[in-house]
Amino acid sequence: MQDVPCQCQKPSDPCGIIIFGASGDLTFRKIMPSLYHLYCAEMLPPAFYVLGCGRTELSTDTFRQKMHDAICAKGQCDLAQWRSFVDHLYYLPIAYDDPACYDALCTTAASLETRFDTKGNRLLYLAVPPLLFPTIIEMAGETGLALSNEPFPWCRIVVEKPFGSDLKSAVALNDVLGRYFRESQIYRIDHYLAKETVQNILIFRFANAILEPVWNRQYIERVEICVAETVGVEHRAGYYEQAGVLRDMFQNHMLQLLSLVAMEPPAQFLADMVRDEKAKVFRSLQPFDPQTMAQSIVLGQYTSGAVDNSPVPGYREEPGVNPYSLTPTYALLEIHIDNWRWQGVPFYLMSGKRLQKRLSRILVQFKDVPHSIFRNIIGTGIRSNRLVFDIQPTERIMLSFQAKAPGAALCMRTIPLEFNYDQDRDRMLDAYEKVLLDCFNGEQMLALRQDSEELCWSFLTPLIETCETCINREKALWFYPAGSWGPESELASALQVLSD
Ligand code: BG6
Repeated sequence: MQDVPCQCQKPSDPCGIIIFGASGDLTFRKIMPSLYHLYCAEMLPPAFYVLGCGRTELSTDTFRQKMHDAICAKGQCDLAQWRSFVDHLYYLPIAYDDPACYDALCTTAASLETRFDTKGNRLLYLAVPPLLFPTIIEMAGETGLALSNEPFPWCRIVVEKPFGSDLKSAVALNDVLGRYFRESQIYRIDHYLAKETVQNILIFRFANAILEPVWNRQYIERVEICVAETVGVEHRAGYYEQAGVLRDMFQNHMLQLLSLVAMEPPAQFLADMVRDEKAKVFRSLQPFDPQTMAQSIVLGQYTSGAVDNSPVPGYREEPGVNPYSLTPTYALLEIHIDNWRWQGVPFYLMSGKRLQKRLSRILVQFKDVPHSIFRNIIGTGIRSNRLVFDIQPTERIMLSFQAKAPGAALCMRTIPLEFNYDQDRDRMLDAYEKVLLDCFNGEQMLALRQDSEELCWSFLTPLIETCETCINREKALWFYPAGSWGPESELASALQVLSD
């Protein structure tokens, strides 16, 4: 197998990484292990420091110890590497709404910039609950922490999801961001887009001439996108009770996956050209009709059951969840795209927690052959071609086709033509590593742009509001046992994405 051609990776600029929420879960589980791994792989900027900030009173030494634990928890701590990495880590306790704390932060950042020679470039990472986003953005802007003289020194800001909870709040958040940052400085991240198999969708579609002629309503019957999880709400009831699956998974990951399958080829593989094409898809989404909506939506909530042979509680029994909660943990939507390419092709998007298996998959189901010349011999039922993008836990692309089974009799069988990422596992970056690397490099291909963020919300907000305010809300919610494949609705019975 030959790797050609490759994009040349330019060396990153030196920079300081300032993490808000550094004593929190995201820093512990994702950000710090990713930074450490990039450091070991010599992919961090040549000069850098990490300044963690948070409400928790910690000394730099305690912070370093916690980060060591975080990295060891991922089973990847090499003592020699850690000893040189740890010298770059610092911590400053702050109150997020106190300007004096930001003055102290500016002073500390300035002195670290001198010590590490980071040339004043700063990456601000908001790893805090979304309620705090506006305060921190405003404070960072007003106190000069976010001062930048583009192109140098630069200041970039990473905003984690959830980006708002509806259209209005997303627009308000964009307004605050826009007061202090230009779009080129803003990285609204969706870690799903940084998964290797997801990045591969565009390469597969647009670097292979054989696909484009059949990638449309004439040849494609349906598209199914599934993100099934075995985990429950975990320790995030406070957030999840308000969000539910539509805000948590659909407004971002699911619609982004849909856009990669459905978008037109951009003229060039450049961030804004790709993001223009995605925005066009979001603009073409057919709004749900309140009269007929019930036929194209299934919402569910898990009850107690067993996952991987272990008993698990129902959603309403999870710590912090209202025992009468009507928050959906599962959704299946039939979506249509009103444009020339996709008219009449249903896109089924399904995601849920506490399902039978962890599986993220996109299935493109092609149409049947128009006429079977084999009908006299084997009947009419020839299985039509399928293209499967397995995103996780298996990472592969599979195209199924029909072939003759060897032997005297004329028999057909379905054969998979398969590419698996298994042999490349060592070279694959974790999604958070890719996200961070892009921020260092000023690459916005995978960052969500303001227009897309708002277009996705304007598509989903009316649906969410209708679901949350309808009088028969409780009746409309299906309950499914944990460990199943979700509610046994009519819509779900037609899904093919779960069959191997
Ligand atoms: C997050 C959601 O964005 O994605 C979680 O908030 C979900 O609820 C997670 O569990 C799934 O991501 P991954 O990478 O584990 O599939």
